[in-house]
Amino acid sequence: MTITIIGAGNIGGTLAEKWKAAGHDILIGARNPNDAETLTWAQGIGVRVLSIPEAADQGEAVLIATPGKVVADLAASLGTALSGKPVMDATNMAGPLGTAPGFDALKRAGGDVVKVFNCTGWENLADVRYGDQVADMFMAGGSEGAKATVRDLVKAVGFTECHDLGADDKVPILEGFALVWIDLAIFQKMGRGMAFKLLRR
Ligand SMILES: NC(=O)c1ccc[n+]([C@@H]2O[C@H](COP(=O)([O-])OP(=O)(O)OC[C@H]3O[C@@H](n4cnc5c(N)ncnc54)[C@H](OP(=O)(O)O)[C@@H]3O)[C@@H](O)[C@H]2O)c1
Repeated sequence: MTITIIGAGNIGGTLAEKWKAAGHDILIGARNPNDAETLTWAQGIGVRVLSIPEAADQGEAVLIATPGKVVADLAASLGTALSGKPVMDATNMAGPLGTAPGFDALKRAGGDVVKVFNCTGWENLADVRYGDQVADMFMAGGSEGAKATVRDLVKAVGFTECHDLGADDKVPILEGFALVWIDLAIFQKMGRGMAFKLLRR
């Protein structure tokens, strides 16, 4: 699958490497597609760098991994490039729960948006394993078809479970769940080597 990544920092860069290693074709959508550091990194792992509109247009699925505060403007700038595509929203934004402005903007742009990869640190995307256990991933969004694609892409990273919290109305829960990870890892000083796993009986 051709996957476009807009925002190739900690989250987007790590997922680019994982998905490329899993056999996907990766397009990086960059504000400056001629940036030497970005090009060197991209060449090193065998992915292409394009302008953001070009990359968004050509991808079959799109990951948004920019700062949360830029997503609304970014979505509005993309025209119809996201229409009907699975769009993974990994962004978080400090603020009151239930606002989800980026998620809603991506939906207005026509994407089949799934909130995912937002509730754990990027280090857990680089390495999902804790000894003989594997961290879990969580998602929410209104398109069952997009969630099926996203589940496959989550598993391609190495996760064994991608728990589905439900439709768009559950996105605020997932955004709050991210705050739980951030609180424990950073404010309660547990450290970033920490991930969520669901136990069932
Ligand atoms: N870090 C984590 O562990 C973690 C975990 C879960 C979720 N998240 C969320 O994931 C998102 C990305 O986090 P990160 O740590 O990967 O951030 P990061 O390392 O700072 O990377 C951000 C990326 O976004 C790009 N970008 C910034 N402004 C942009 C704009 N206006 N248009 C297009 N691209 C833009 C940057 O590209 P330039 O080179 O052009 O600046 C950079 O590639 C955030 O919303 C964050 O809250 C992060």
